[in-house]
Amino acid sequence: MKKRVFSGIQPTGDIHIGNYLGAIRNWVLSQVELDNIFCIVDLHAITVSQDPGVLKVKIREVAGLLFAAGINTAESAVFIQSHIPAHSELTWILNCFTPMGWMRRMTQFKEKSQRHKEEVSVGLFDYPVLMAADILLYDTDVVPVGEDQKQHVELARDIAQRFNFIFGETLKVPEVTIPEVGARIMGLDDPTQKMSKSEDGPGRVIYLLDSPDDIRSKIKRATTDSRREIRFDESRPGICNLLVIYELFTGLGRTEIEARWEGKGYGDFKRELAEVVVEGLSPLQSRYRELTADSTYIDSLLAEGMRRILPIAEKTLAAVKDKVGLG
Ligand code: AMP
Ligand code: TRP
Repeated sequence: MKKRVFSGIQPTGDIHIGNYLGAIRNWVLSQVELDNIFCIVDLHAITVSQDPGVLKVKIREVAGLLFAAGINTAESAVFIQSHIPAHSELTWILNCFTPMGWMRRMTQFKEKSQRHKEEVSVGLFDYPVLMAADILLYDTDVVPVGEDQKQHVELARDIAQRFNFIFGETLKVPEVTIPEVGARIMGLDDPTQKMSKSEDGPGRVIYLLDSPDDIRSKIKRATTDSRREIRFDESRPGICNLLVIYELFTGLGRTEIEARWEGKGYGDFKRELAEVVVEGLSPLQSRYRELTADSTYIDSLLAEGMRRILPIAEKTLAAVKDKVGLG
C-alpha cells in the first residue's frame, strides 16, 4: 500500500521557479512511490478578497502547470476543492466539534487579520477547519507543509482525535512532515528575500510562464556583488542563489560548476544561466501550450482525478454523518 499524501495549493499568484525547484519537481519524482492527492484550494482562496475572473483563470492555470510539469493522472489526483461538496459539508460538521479556544490560538489568523483589518471574514477565521476537512476526508497518512502551516495540520490531528474520542474510531489521524528544503530560491533583485508569489517587485521572480526575453532580462539585472569569484559562498547571497538555480537546472555538481566558471566573469555566467533556465523551462512551457490548446482538456484531466477520489470523500462524510446522528 502506498502512503497517501495530501497537498493543498492556493490558486492565487503566479507559480515561479522557486515553487518548481523547491516543490513541484519533487512531487513529480515522488509519484511512483506515493499516492499523491493535489487539491487546488479555491475555497481557501476566497477567505480573502479575490477578483472572480482572475480566480477562475488561475485555478486552471495552476492545474495546467502541474500537469505540464509532469504530474500524471494515472499516478496522482489533481482536483478542485469546490468541485467536491464534501469539503464544505465536513467543514460545517467539524466546526460544531471544534472549541473556539483552539481556533483563537491560530497564529496565521492573527497575522492575516492584522493585514486585512478592514474586512476580516468568518471564513478567514474558519480557514483551519476547512483545511482539516480537506485532509481528513481522504484517510490521509502524511501532509507535507511549510513551517507556517504546521499549526494547521496539528489542529487537524486534534480535531480528528477529539472526534474519534467522542464517537469512536472514524477519522485517520495524519502525520505532518516538513520536507527538507533542498533549495530555497531567493529573489533575484534582493537575494535576502525568498522568491515568493506575493512579492512581485519587478525582476524579483521568474515565473514558469515567463518568455525567454523576460527570463534573460531578469537574470541580467539580478543583484550580485562587487567581487569576482563565482563560488557557492553563502556569505554572498546573490551569486550563490544564481549558482543554486544553475545547479538545479543543469544537474551538475558544485565542484564541477565552480571549476567551469573559474576566472570567468559574472556577465558570461549570467548569459549562460539565462539560457539554462530558458532551456529548462521550455519543455514545460510547450507542454502547457499543448494542454491549453484545447480549452476542455485540463477540465477533463481534473474530472478524471475527481472521479477517482470522490468515493473516498463520500465514504468518510457518510461515516461522520452517521456517527453524529445526521440524516
Ligand atoms: P507557496 O508558493 O508559498 O504556496 O509554496 C508552494 C510550495 O513551493 C511549497 O512547498 C514551498 O516550500 C515551495 N516554495 C515556495 N517558494 C519557494 C522558494 N522561493 N524556494 C523554494 N521553494 C519554494
Ligand atoms: N493552507 C495551505 C497553504 O496556504 C493550503 C492548504 C489547504 C493545504 N488545504 C490543505 C495544505 C490541506 C495541506 C493540506 O499553503
